[in-house]
Amino acid sequence: MVVLVDVEREKRIAAEAAAELVEDGMRVGLGTGSTVAYLLPALAGRGLDLVCVATSSRTEELGRDLGLNVVRFDSLDELDIAIDGADQIAPDGWLVKGGGAAHTREKIVLAAADRFVVIADSTKAVDALSPPIPLELMSFGLEATLRHVAPARRRDVPPSPDGGVIADYVGPVENPADLAVWLASVPGVIEHGLFPPELVAEIVVGRGAEIHRRSLR
Ligand code: 5RP
Repeated sequence: MVVLVDVEREKRIAAEAAAELVEDGMRVGLGTGSTVAYLLPALAGRGLDLVCVATSSRTEELGRDLGLNVVRFDSLDELDIAIDGADQIAPDGWLVKGGGAAHTREKIVLAAADRFVVIADSTKAVDALSPPIPLELMSFGLEATLRHVAPARRRDVPPSPDGGVIADYVGPVENPADLAVWLASVPGVIEHGLFPPELVAEIVVGRGAEIHRRSLR
């Protein structure tokens, strides 16, 4: 039997549910991607007094166009909440992020937040994480770094706003914690797209017409 998933509806209802978690006066981290694209109008529509930081220029522009107060992330040292999508969500809360090449800024923003809420459609929930795992690499010594993190391939996208080269590790992902430690240890790796459960407060997934919520702390 073929089950058709209305992915856009699932993204929208997850994003709208997360927008309701934001309270007046909060400092809010805004993620990047097509699920966050549903969050921004839902948040702007609430008319709250917020200070927002964006994880990409796409989010910054869209947020400002919708009337959100988006400031540079050099004037705040912590955030009340951050809301972002994910490419893969494992049952134990490990995430893969960076399909939109924004994982370095996303990790910085999410790590600064008291509460990181993941929003996703049901296709993102997986039994186990699998490659590709996004990487941001220094351009200096790029070929040597790619050789070190092999198997890896450079992604055909522009550099990050911080000048990093976007690539993907395509080898096995047996233990995400071990892989995360190894990737972080390789000279030339600026950041990888494995996000540990300790960073995550809540996962909000749209499944059909329903919202499935899971608190990790
Ligand atoms: C961008 C990301 C996104 O959160 C992730 O790729 C999910 O995107 P989408 O909501 O479009 O499925 O990590 O770097």
